[in-house]
Amino acid sequence: MTASLDAFRIVRTVADLRAAVRAWRAQGLTVALVPTMGALHAGHLHLVAEGLKRADRVVTSVFVNPTQFAAHEDLGAYPRQQDRDAKLLDQTGCALMFAPTVDEMYAAGAVTRITVGDAETGGPSQGLEGAFRPQMFGGVALVVAKLLNQAQADIAVFGEKDWQQLMVVRRLALDLDIPTEIVGVPTVRDEHGLALSSRNAYLSAEELDVARRLNVILRQAGEKARAGRPIAGAEREAYDAILKAGFDTIDYVAIRRAEDLAAFPSGVIEGDARILTAARIGRTRLIDNMAV
Ligand code: PAF
Repeated sequence: MTASLDAFRIVRTVADLRAAVRAWRAQGLTVALVPTMGALHAGHLHLVAEGLKRADRVVTSVFVNPTQFAAHEDLGAYPRQQDRDAKLLDQTGCALMFAPTVDEMYAAGAVTRITVGDAETGGPSQGLEGAFRPQMFGGVALVVAKLLNQAQADIAVFGEKDWQQLMVVRRLALDLDIPTEIVGVPTVRDEHGLALSSRNAYLSAEELDVARRLNVILRQAGEKARAGRPIAGAEREAYDAILKAGFDTIDYVAIRRAEDLAAFPSGVIEGDARILTAARIGRTRLIDNMAV
């Protein structure tokens, strides 16, 4: 079915979001949700374009979610540029930007929390980002569960750049019987292979040169491990190479099972694998990952 495109709109309440989605549904239209924290770049717009390929209407949420930041993290400094975001979304064909306030998202007195696995159950939230940012996946799971419930979209589109997050969201949707299909979209990279990220805006010109080495190092380490090199050795080499390239500190470099992020018990790759890292240059923490 074809339907004329509606004018782009910004809504700030769950009631208005639901009314818009209900109206589209009444016309037989399908809906994609693209959850973001704003400061949109080409990577986000690629997610919107993917949503448009798969659904009649795209809703993009722009919400800097406080529950996924620890007290010492960059919540206050996180770039906020809603006017610019709205223009970009309009130009990309997104129908609606959902930009709630913190009070709209988290009503006074809200106490519900969501945990996607723990030390006992295991699961994709354990280790890696979960170890270095213990706040992160509880906050992501809570806000994503709320957004999925608020939008009631047919699909929700997430970038593979946050691979562990994507696996956590898939597990959450499965475990809570959320009917929205979770779609992962390959990472958009610049001409040097640097994964696009809102945090790249913090990098100086020299830091940008260093950051662009990260994907090359990951690819090389992944290829060696895929060729049969023990994982521990490939990880160690990548660790040394990242520091040599000019990064200041590394939280982790790890080759893990792609789906649940568990370590390979045999110490070599068997089946689908991913190499993942988080490293800092100056005050900027970058993450990246790729299939091995
Ligand atoms: O990936 C992000 O930008 C955020 O973690 C998300 C999924 C929008 C939840 O706040």
